[in-house]
Amino acid sequence: MSYVSSRTVGRTPRRSWPRKVATATAAAGAIVGLLVSGSGPASAAQPHAPSAAPPATTLAAPDIPLANVKAHLTQLQSIATANSGNRAHGRAGYKASIDYVKAKLDAAGFTTTLQQFTSSGATGWNLIADWPGGDPNHVVFAGSHLDSVTAGAGINDNGSGSAGVLETALAVSREGLQPTKHLRFGWWGAEELGLVGSKYYVNNLPSTERAKIDAYLNFDMIGSPNPGYFVYDDDPQVETLFKDFFAAKGVPTEIETEGDGRSDHAPFKNVGVPVGGLFSGADYTKTAAQAQKWGGTSGQPFDRCYHSSCDTTANINDTALDRNSDAIAHAIWTLGTGTTPPPGTSFENTDNVNVPDVGAAVESPIAVTGRTGNAPSALKVGVDIKHTYRGDLVVDLVAPDGTAFRLKNSSSSDSADNVIATYTVNASAEVANGTWKLRVRDVAAQDIGFIDSWKLTF
Ligand code: TRP
Ligand code: ZN
Ligand code: CA
Repeated sequence: MSYVSSRTVGRTPRRSWPRKVATATAAAGAIVGLLVSGSGPASAAQPHAPSAAPPATTLAAPDIPLANVKAHLTQLQSIATANSGNRAHGRAGYKASIDYVKAKLDAAGFTTTLQQFTSSGATGWNLIADWPGGDPNHVVFAGSHLDSVTAGAGINDNGSGSAGVLETALAVSREGLQPTKHLRFGWWGAEELGLVGSKYYVNNLPSTERAKIDAYLNFDMIGSPNPGYFVYDDDPQVETLFKDFFAAKGVPTEIETEGDGRSDHAPFKNVGVPVGGLFSGADYTKTAAQAQKWGGTSGQPFDRCYHSSCDTTANINDTALDRNSDAIAHAIWTLGTGTTPPPGTSFENTDNVNVPDVGAAVESPIAVTGRTGNAPSALKVGVDIKHTYRGDLVVDLVAPDGTAFRLKNSSSSDSADNVIATYTVNASAEVANGTWKLRVRDVAAQDIGFIDSWKLTF
């Protein structure tokens, strides 16, 4: 910067250039023109309307018939029985499982793709099904692994998730759904060998395509015989969606803690795709408190047949399978048909607001619409304030209900120019929709500036 100042008690004037400014536009001209070398004031002075998001309107999901989901499990059991008792990677039962799911999807009008890979010397497949239409730049993706371990038929792990996702896809077709987003469904191979299929898919997906995935939802074990109702603690919008769904049915949920990253959402999450999912429990033991709220047997595993030969069609809790299948459809319909902005959407106000010298606080509003539930625990607040002595400034984020979050205090020793920073605020106790404000107050004399722009990223 072109001038240096130091601040001590009892300030002395440090410059003589004009600082009487009537409007934000004039402030922009004066300050930017003087302080930002090589960039003209014109663009910074242009006012812009805050970006407006469309209202949230989503279609209601149909009920997913439990009988249909169970019919898929019966077929997967028959496939295992006819193929040495399992549907494991590299075994005939796996390919037969893929063929079964693919035939259903092809008949329903999906565009299916088999992705072949090799693992432990054997060929494996991922099955991808795209529902034609929807915005190709906003993909809502649900997936599940289709392979079992060699010990058994894998009906809860993970025929259950595979059947729930399949029946949701078939419901999309039955309803002739015309989603706003592009819908994609995936069945992964060789999950039991270390997430091999889903890692292969993500590794071979160009980063431009990864960036189009608004959310990946994972369903691995959703019909455990002694069930819990666990929601992945990942993308806040997806997590809230599932929690609200179960809360509305009077079903308490807990955060999934049995092993973060133990399923196919991990490769997506690792490349920055927002993820979520549901889980009804594996080999961990149900506590007394959990049996109290969910029923079932305390002191016993959620799935006593996890990875063993008794994981058959008898190893399913119908109520858990039914609720979780309906939850999958609810998520697909809500995320896929809504005009709800996807995770990572920004709302910005680029109007300039003059901050008067030692004056009253000024505010710049951003109207947030189209969100469901609360703001995220890591709400990003991007601030761009032009000022000639930023230590003068006290900056708050004000939530729609008036709660203020201090972003920055004043500091008489901080003589640098401008506040250009991104702050992270835990706003999870605040409803997302409504008018948020950036509140800025200048508490020390002489130096001045203006809010150039600010934005909220959900
Ligand atoms: N297929 C997973 C596995 O064998 C099952 C599992 C265990 C799981 N813990 C989980 C799935 C937690 C999701 C979340 O490891
Ligand atoms: Zn599994
Ligand atoms: Ca000042």
